[in-house]
Amino acid sequence: MPADLMDSWELAMDAQAHSPVAVDRVVELLAVPAGPGVLVDATVGAAGHAAALLAASGPDVRLVGFDRDPAALELAGRRLAAYRNRARLVAAGYDELADHVAETAAADGPVLGVLYDLGVSSMQLDTPERGFSFRADAPLDMRMDPGAPGTAADLLDTVDEAELARILKVYGEERYARRIAAAIVRVRPLRSTRALAETVAAAVPASARYGGPHPATRTFQALRIVVNAELDRFSASLPQALATVAPAAMGADGPVSRGGRIAVLSYHSGEDRIAKRFFADAAAGCVCPPGFPVCVCGHQPLVRLLTRGAERPGADEVERNPRARSAKLRVAEKVADGPLPAPGPGG
Ligand SMILES: C[S@@+](CC[C@H](N)C(=O)[O-])C[C@H]1O[C@@H](n2cnc3c(N)ncnc32)[C@H](O)[C@@H]1O
Repeated sequence: MPADLMDSWELAMDAQAHSPVAVDRVVELLAVPAGPGVLVDATVGAAGHAAALLAASGPDVRLVGFDRDPAALELAGRRLAAYRNRARLVAAGYDELADHVAETAAADGPVLGVLYDLGVSSMQLDTPERGFSFRADAPLDMRMDPGAPGTAADLLDTVDEAELARILKVYGEERYARRIAAAIVRVRPLRSTRALAETVAAAVPASARYGGPHPATRTFQALRIVVNAELDRFSASLPQALATVAPAAMGADGPVSRGGRIAVLSYHSGEDRIAKRFFADAAAGCVCPPGFPVCVCGHQPLVRLLTRGAERPGADEVERNPRARSAKLRVAEKVADGPLPAPGPGG
C-alpha cells in the first residue's frame, strides 16, 4: 500500500480502535479469564475488540482473527503485535470460519467465543479510495476484498432496473428506490462516488434532499451489502460458528461450565433479523407442530440466550461514537451439540 494511503488508514484505524462498539459488554460476555481456549474475531478490522478481548483473557487464551480486507489485516497485525504469540490472523471471509479454526482449536483448546462486528469499518469509510463513501470523489468500488471480482460500478453497469429497485428497497430500505433505479439506469455508466451521489440526490424529491442524512446514504449501504454478498456470507457463517464452539457442560440445574458464546453486533435490520432467527431456532426446545399431544421431535435447545432481545448501546456511548447509534448486540451460549431444527414456514 502506498505510504500516504497507509498514513490515512493509520489515522482512521486509531480513531476506530479507540472506540470499538459496546466493547465493555463484549468483553464481559466473551473474554475468558482462565484458559486454555480459543476466541474467534470473525471481523477483526482494526482489532479494537480483539485487543480488548486478549487483554481481558488469560495468557493461555488464543485469538483467531478473520478479515476479507488485506489492509485491515495488516493494521490488525500491528495493533496485536504485543500479542504475537496469542493471535493468528486469517485472510479469509467468515463464511470459511470452520475450515480455518479447526486446526487452532485442536492445538489450543475449545473454541469459547466467536464475535461478529458486522458491516463496514470506520477506516474503510474514511479511506476515499475504497469507494464506500460519498464524502469524497473516488472510483465506485466498495469491495471489502479488493481481489474479489465485481465492483459497485460493475454491478450498476449490468443490473436491470427492476432488480436495482429491489436491491435499494430491500438492502437500503430506500423509500425512493424506483425513482433512483430509473435515474441510475438512464445515466449509466457511473464511475465515481460523486457521480452516483449526485444522480441519487437529483432523483429524490427536493424535500428529501435537505435536513436529514445525505439522500445517497441508503443507496451506498444497499450497494455495499450486495457487492460483498454480506447477508449471504453471514447466513453461511452462523451455523459454522455454532458447530465450532464448545458446548457447556450441563448439570441437573443448568450449565456447570461455560459454553462457547456467539456474539453479533449488527447495524442493519437484515443482519439483525438473520441473527435473531438463527438464535431463536437454536434456542428452541420441542419443534413439533402445535397440537401434537406428545413430543415426537425430541429436539433440545442448542443454545441459551444471554441477551434479552437485542441490547442497544447507551446514550453516552452513542454520543461519543456515532457508529454505535444503530448497533444491536445479541449473544447466545451453546449448551448442547446437535443439528439445528429444519426451518419452519417462512424460515
Ligand atoms: C466493523 S469492522 C470491525 C471492527 C473491529 N471489530 C474493530 O474493533 O476494529 C468490520 C470488518 O469486517 C470485515 N468483513 C466484512 N465482511 C467480512 C467477511 N465476510 N468475512 C470477514 N471479514 C469481513 C471488514 O473488512 C471490516 O474490517
